[in-house]
Amino acid sequence: MPGSPWDPDQYGLFSAEREQPFWDLAGLLEARKGASLVDLGCGDGRLTAALHRRIGAGRTLGVDSSPEMLARAASAAGTEVSFTSGDIATWHGSGVDIVFSNAALQWVGNHTAVLGRWRESLAPGGQLAVQVPSNWDHASHLVLTELAREHLGDDAPPDPVAANVLKPEEYSRLLYELGFKRQQVRMQVYTHILPDAEALVEWMKGTSMNRVKGLLAPDEYADFVEVYKARILERLGCQKPFFYPFKRILMWGSLH
Ligand SMILES: C[S@@+](CC[C@H](N)C(=O)[O-])C[C@H]1O[C@@H](n2cnc3c(N)ncnc32)[C@H](O)[C@@H]1O
Repeated sequence: MPGSPWDPDQYGLFSAEREQPFWDLAGLLEARKGASLVDLGCGDGRLTAALHRRIGAGRTLGVDSSPEMLARAASAAGTEVSFTSGDIATWHGSGVDIVFSNAALQWVGNHTAVLGRWRESLAPGGQLAVQVPSNWDHASHLVLTELAREHLGDDAPPDPVAANVLKPEEYSRLLYELGFKRQQVRMQVYTHILPDAEALVEWMKGTSMNRVKGLLAPDEYADFVEVYKARILERLGCQKPFFYPFKRILMWGSLH
C-alpha cells in the first residue's frame, strides 16, 4: 500500500469492539513473567503497553509501518516498552518468547513464509498468537471491492483479507508443520450492534477503506465514501440498530 493512510482517531472510533478480539487473543497466551514480547502491526501502541503490563513481560517491542500510528505510540513507550518502524511482511527477530499480532497480518501476503519467519524468531518454548479478520464475504467488504473496481479499474487493489487470509484448518496445518507442539485455532463471530448502517461506513473508513484512500486524491476519496455509503444503504437498508456480524480467526501455538 503506498503511503500510510492510517488515521488513529478514525480507527479508534470503535475501540471497544476492536479491543475484544485483542484480549481474546491475549487470553490464549500462557503468561511467563519477564518474557520478551513483540507486537507486530502494533498500531497506536496503547494495547501493546497494556498487554505488556497484563502478562508481566520483561521487555516489549511494537512494530508498525504507519508513521501516524507510531507517532501516537511514542506516548505508550517506557523503559521496558519500545516501538519501531518496520514491515511485518519481512520482519525477523531472534530469541523472542512471544510473537503477538492482532488484526495486522491480513495486510500482507504469503502467510506461509511470513509465519515461518515469525516462528524462526521464537526462543525455544516460545509462543505465537495471531488474529486476522475473515469477513471478506460480508456486503460491507464486497461493496467496497466492487466500487474500488468501478473507480480504479485494473488498478483496484484486491481485498487483502480475501487475497491473503487462509482457512482456519490451513492455519492449523501450518502451525503443525512449523513445529508448534500445542495449538488452538478458532473462527469466532463477533456480533457488533452499531447504531445504524452509516456507522458501518465509519467502521470501514477506519480499516478496510485505507487500501483505496491511499490511492485517491482527498476529494476523490470523499466522493468514493459518499458513493459507498449510498450503496451500503441501498444494499443493507436502514436498520436501526444495525447488526454487524464479523468473523475472525484466532490462532495460538506453543513450541513446548
Ligand atoms: C487494524 S490495525 C491493528 C492495530 C493493533 N494491532 C490493534 O490491535 O489495535 C493494523 C495495523 O497494522 C499496521 N500494518 C499494516 N500493514 C503493515 C505492514 N506491512 N508492516 C507493519 N505494519 C503494518 C497498520 O499500520 C496498522 O497500525
